[in-house]
Amino acid sequence: MTCPDRVNVFLVGAGGREHALARAIARSPRLGELWVDPAANPGIASLGRRADVPMDSKQHYRVRQFCDRRDIGLVVIGPEDPLAQGLADSLAERADGSRRAVLGPPARAARLEADKAYAKKLMRDASIPTAEGRSFDDYAAAKAFLESRTELHVIKAAGLAKGKGVVVPKTECEGLAALERMMVGLEFGDAGRRVVIEELMTGPEVSVLALVDGRNIMILPPCQDHKRLGDDDTGPNTGGMGAFCPSNTLDVATMSRVEREVFVPIVDALRRDEAEFRGVLYAGLMLTPAGPKVLEFNVRFGDPECQPLMARLESDAIELFHACATGSLHRVDVQWSEQHAVTVVLAAQGYPAKPRKGDEITGIEAAERIEGVRVDQAGTAMVDGKLVTSGGRVLGVTAMGTSFAEARERAYRAAGLIEFDGKQMRADIGASATAKAGA
Ligand code: AMP
Ligand code: GLY
Repeated sequence: MTCPDRVNVFLVGAGGREHALARAIARSPRLGELWVDPAANPGIASLGRRADVPMDSKQHYRVRQFCDRRDIGLVVIGPEDPLAQGLADSLAERADGSRRAVLGPPARAARLEADKAYAKKLMRDASIPTAEGRSFDDYAAAKAFLESRTELHVIKAAGLAKGKGVVVPKTECEGLAALERMMVGLEFGDAGRRVVIEELMTGPEVSVLALVDGRNIMILPPCQDHKRLGDDDTGPNTGGMGAFCPSNTLDVATMSRVEREVFVPIVDALRRDEAEFRGVLYAGLMLTPAGPKVLEFNVRFGDPECQPLMARLESDAIELFHACATGSLHRVDVQWSEQHAVTVVLAAQGYPAKPRKGDEITGIEAAERIEGVRVDQAGTAMVDGKLVTSGGRVLGVTAMGTSFAEARERAYRAAGLIEFDGKQMRADIGASATAKAGA
């Protein structure tokens, strides 16, 4: 299906990733009207109209009615939860029976992220390199397995846990305690009733994302995320404290190996399982001494990885996403800026355990006056005419530059101009890339 000249778009999701997507969509000359999530933060809402429709999983039919009423030709679904709940399935058909373009996989394929035990099985069956792992529903059996092992293992809640359901223990005791918290204490709710226990791997991490249209795979420039809260990768895991793109951790040969050994077989395996994948497929990889291995799959853009990625996208985002959603990626040619992009996340006091809300934010306009800088809003709200913190990750400050060093310098200069009480940020986002580039 070729992309119409004028498309009304509905963007689902309310955070930093979606603000970056909204900017890219708003730049497209094909945009008719942009409708955004009812829960969209003020940054996203400044680029479109809030849809007045309930987004809970039991009322997908109302979202579909909304899309029909507003003649939505493209739906872009940012987060994993609605995908796992089947929103893409519900919106794929219009009232008149014709297909609607939806960027995001059906629920069957979204299981790749929503159920780590399923993902492990699929990877094993397709011989995709990943950590050896076993899944358990029974606490006693899981505990006995861990106790019988001499080497350390990683414990993962099998369900969706906002990127926080993984424990990499330093001692056997820590591993056992984490297992008990997940399976008995239900620290992550139902997501931890089943766990995956897997071999602890070592090596640098990198995220490779691709647009997949069912058959064709378009690998996007590699990004690197910084998952730990503190500098030098210390402290608890978070959703991501910053990212940069392109990552220079992967050479061209390794990239094509990742495409051959990871992306092609997983897309085939899903299709064999009647779960055709259309949307963004994200492989979190560890570059181990034995080669790249999959840590996890996500079925959406990473957050914050989406922010540096969208900053570098020069092509028409609507045309690209429409092609992905309609099986015609082979017809589009995508252009990326030559520049480097670095995103520094500013998080709220208390993140990730218990982020504080309501702190007033100032300085965004001054930050955006710096060349190449944009500030995507994540956990923000407007209260009495003031922008305040309203979630864990509050803002993503993205800067472009002709070198990593320039992009980093701009991003940190901009981040320094933004103030709110309890602001947390890492000081070393992109530092490794800058050092490696010798810049
Ligand atoms: P995941 O959500 O599965 O990507 O895991 C979150 C983080 O935990 C990863 O980014 C890694 O830093 C770490 N991790 C996950 N699995 C392993 C593993 N098998 N070995 C070592 N580290 C891991
Ligand atoms: N930044 C990691 C994620 O989106 O899962």
